[in-house]
Amino acid sequence: METKRTLVIGASGQVGTELTAALRNQYGVDAIIASDIHPDEKLQKQGPFELLNVLDKPRLEAIIDQYQIDTIYHLAALLSATGEKNPPLAWDLNCNGLLNVLNVMRDKGLKQLFWPSTIAVFGPHTPREETPQFCVMDPNTMYGLTKLVGERLCEYYFEKYGVDVRSIRYPGLIGWKSAPGGGTTDYAVHIFYAALQTGEYTCFLSEDTRLPMMHMEDAIRATIDLMHADASRLTIRSSYNISGCSFTPRELSNIIKESLPDFVIKYEPDYRQAIADSWPQSIDDNIAQNDWDWKPKYNTAKLTEDMLIHIREMLAEKA
Ligand SMILES: NC(=O)c1ccc[n+]([C@@H]2O[C@H](COP(=O)([O-])OP(=O)(O)OC[C@H]3O[C@@H](n4cnc5c(N)ncnc54)[C@H](O)[C@@H]3O)[C@@H](O)[C@H]2O)c1
Repeated sequence: METKRTLVIGASGQVGTELTAALRNQYGVDAIIASDIHPDEKLQKQGPFELLNVLDKPRLEAIIDQYQIDTIYHLAALLSATGEKNPPLAWDLNCNGLLNVLNVMRDKGLKQLFWPSTIAVFGPHTPREETPQFCVMDPNTMYGLTKLVGERLCEYYFEKYGVDVRSIRYPGLIGWKSAPGGGTTDYAVHIFYAALQTGEYTCFLSEDTRLPMMHMEDAIRATIDLMHADASRLTIRSSYNISGCSFTPRELSNIIKESLPDFVIKYEPDYRQAIADSWPQSIDDNIAQNDWDWKPKYNTAKLTEDMLIHIREMLAEKA
C-alpha cells in the first residue's frame, strides 16, 4: 500500500512556515506536502509544494488523490486586521475554505484534520480575565465571527460524520523564523526588529493593552501534541483554549529595555485598538491541561530573551 501523506494548506504563512518545517523534521520531507495560493521559492526548494487555492475544491481533491493524503493542516485564513479591510473575502476564505476541507475529509474518509481557531472568537461580553472554555462569545470582527462559525462546523462534522478534527484557539503568536500576516498582536513581533535595528518603535496599541500571547515554538508543539493525543481523552471538538503568557506593550518594552536600555517606545493606537479591547486578557486552559497534558515552556521573560538572541543573530548574518 502507498504511504499516506500530510497536506499543509496556507504553508507559506507565519504558522505554516514553522509547522511545515517541524512536521518535515518529524515525518520526513517527502511525507509533508506544502501548499499555498502564492508560489513560495523557499518552500519549493525544501520539498514537495503545490499551488492551491483552498476555495478550488476540485484542485484540493486532485492534490489529495495525487499524493494519497490522509491528514490535513488547514491554516489558510484572513486574519483580524486584514479581515476588517476585506470582510467579504474573510467570510469566503475562512468559512467556505474550511467547509471545502471538512467535506473532502468526510467524503474521502481522511484520517485527521487540524484547523486553528483564535482568541478572536471571544467578544466584549466575554469575561476578560482567565477566560473560560465555555462562556459568552460575541465576536465583533469578521475574523472572530468566521472562526466561531468554523468552531461550530468542526464540532458538527465530528459529531455527525465522525471527522477527527482537532483545534486550538491560538493566542497572539510570536516567533523569529517567520513574519506575522496581519493580526492585532503583530506588534509583539515587529517590536523586536525595531528595537534591534533602530532602537525605537511606534506601537499601534496603547501601553496598557493586555493580550494573551504565545511563543511560536510552544504553539507548534501544542499543535503536534494535540494531533498525537489519544482520541478517547479529547472532550473538545470545537477548539481548545490554550494559554502561554500575557503582557502589555509597556511590560514587553520594559523587559526589552533590560537588554537594550536606550530602546524608546511610542504609542499611536489605530483601528486595531478596538479589536484588542474586545479580546480576553488571559485564558483559562484547564481542559487542555487535563485532556492532553498541555503546558507552555515560555513565559514573557524567556520569550523576550529568545527573540532578541535569534533576531540579533539573523540581522548579523544579513549585514
Ligand atoms: N499568527 C497568529 O498569531 C494566529 C493567532 C490565532 C490564530 N491563527 C490562525 O492560524 C492560521 C495561520 O495563521 P498565520 O498567522 O500563519 O496566517 P498568515 O496570514 O501568515 O498565513 C496564511 C497563509 O494562507 C495563504 N492563503 C491565503 N488565501 C489562501 C487560499 N485561498 N488558499 C490557500 N492559501 C491561502 C496565504 O498566502 C498565507 O501564506 C490561521 O487560520 C489563523 O487564523 C494565527
